Amino acid sequence: MADHVAWDEILARELIEARAAQECAIAPVLHAVQDRFGYVHTRAAAMVANALNRSRAEVFGALAADRTLRRQPPLDSLIRLCLAESCRARGAEALAAFLETRYGARIDGGACLGVRIETALCLGHCDAGPNAAHDGDIFFALDPQTLDLLFAKVAAKAGAPP
Ligand code: FES
Repeated sequence: MADHVAWDEILARELIEARAAQECAIAPVLHAVQDRFGYVHTRAAAMVANALNRSRAEVFGALAADRTLRRQPPLDSLIRLCLAESCRARGAEALAAFLETRYGARIDGGACLGVRIETALCLGHCDAGPNAAHDGDIFFALDPQTLDLLFAKVAAKAGAPP
């Protein structure tokens, strides 16, 4: 699986315009957007309509009809690391630095090995931090080893090689 990058309108515009001359380009361009960002941002759909000189309804219709296209970032590849005050005091920033050093995964920096790490601002369990959330579960009292295990599990689920 290719790594995705965080939504970037300038990058999306370049990507869309580079493919705008293709015939029947709506679906291929939407898929190219998804390949790059992991989903098709609403702004991207509007940009595709403009670049291809098609109506927005046509593009949103193509987006809705193709069940392989996502309109939201995939949640099962998301880890939300709490960087609020209490978790910070308990070492959350060191955990963020660990992920960057070990995997090159940057907080709020797009996907790395198919995993996105985003900032959470309090997960409601401040006395048990540092904490992270993934796929509806909260992981408490993380240290580099337990966070490493969580990251590896999510990356494997996302299709990254072990
Ligand atoms: S500060 Fe992290 S759970 Fe509240």
